[in-house]
Amino acid sequence: MHVLVTGGAGYIGSHTVVTLIGAGHRVTVVDDLSNSSEESLRRVGELTGQPVAFHRLDVRDRRGLDEMFARAASSGHPVEAVIHFAGLKAVGESVVEPVRYYDVNVGSAVVLLAAMHDAGVRRIVFSSSATVYGDPVCVPIPEDAVVQPANPYGRTKAVIEGLLRDVAASGTGWQVSLLRYFNPVGAHPSGRIGEDPTGTPNNLLPFVAQVAVGRRREVAIFGDDYDTPDGTGVRDYIHVVDLALGHVAALDRPPAPGTPLVVNLGTGTGASVLEVIRTFSEVAGVPVPYRIAPRRPGDVAACYADVSVATEVLGWKAQRSLADACADTWRWQRSNPNGYR
Ligand code: NAD
Ligand code: UD1
Repeated sequence: MHVLVTGGAGYIGSHTVVTLIGAGHRVTVVDDLSNSSEESLRRVGELTGQPVAFHRLDVRDRRGLDEMFARAASSGHPVEAVIHFAGLKAVGESVVEPVRYYDVNVGSAVVLLAAMHDAGVRRIVFSSSATVYGDPVCVPIPEDAVVQPANPYGRTKAVIEGLLRDVAASGTGWQVSLLRYFNPVGAHPSGRIGEDPTGTPNNLLPFVAQVAVGRRREVAIFGDDYDTPDGTGVRDYIHVVDLALGHVAALDRPPAPGTPLVVNLGTGTGASVLEVIRTFSEVAGVPVPYRIAPRRPGDVAACYADVSVATEVLGWKAQRSLADACADTWRWQRSNPNGYR
């Protein structure tokens, strides 16, 4: 299948492109490189043995998208499905710049859907997030849990999910899959591609990796007084290669037109901050100093997925462990201490 991957130069996108090509799909990437570099795609080409078809484009650029769809069609390989990763994802930034977040995230989705409509492409897989559940009423979280995002970033995801539900219900043949990711971590086992955050990482694992490699002094653990087994926050860390495989499964098993398929992509198991630090330190064989700091505003005690829909409907299950993710992150971090730069 010819798959258009928006945001394909980014962290999850680049791993998904490798997996798609490995599964025999033809891939075209569009990305404006606002949070990535073309070097990731060059390395994807190296890993897959073929250069990646790439258009540097803002997804809000309607004319650019139209030209891309038209070129694919006239080459005899029309785009048949889209995986839509492109967007902004920093929670804190979204609180300070909500309008930019709605503009980029919701604006991209609107323009992309209009261009897909006119190009006759009716299949989309969308990157949503467990953040739409906000402070979850129960764990593990099932897909029918209430959607109540607690920040602008999460609300943009909820708005796009709503838009895609309406599109699916329009009676015009759309097949929509909404994938809600839990906490993506890890890197390709080659160590050639991985997560490359700019500035201070917001997320735990990249921060731990930078402490382990000596770029930062210690990890601040945001709170040790949560109602969890060791008092630190519990999350569902899913290896990015498993996540990539989840996208291939979603493409292979689209829902019938009418109602979107909503699927949690997680492992179904939570790990605490202390467990993550301990596992990383053991796998890397280096100490990871830490201190206990105050809670981070907006954090919840525990968040992990009910993965029964993914197993039953997609036939997909995460295979890689937290230790695998730490080992792969460590390999990526050590061989690329400054990321792609
Ligand atoms: P990323 O920033 O590495 O990748 C996003 C890519 O989109 C980047 O390459 C960026 O340059 C590109 N992009 C941004 N705006 C664009 C635009 N207007 N036009 C074209 N390209 C644009 O992020 P990621 O971690 O790979 O996340 C991918 C998707 O998954 C995002 O939609 C994110 O919200 C979602 N998600 C991520 C996580 C996570 O923890 N990483 C969790 C849940 C959901
Ligand atoms: C964050 C986002 C969420 C997003 C998810 C995956 C917030 C409030 N939420 O969630 O919307 O979907 O990332 O990208 O930002 N921690 C530390 N010290 C650190 C960093 C993190 O103790 O330096 C702790 C956190 O308190 C949490 C756990 O580690 O308990 C994981 O944090 P993080 O990686 O930021 O993910 P989430 O909090 O799940």
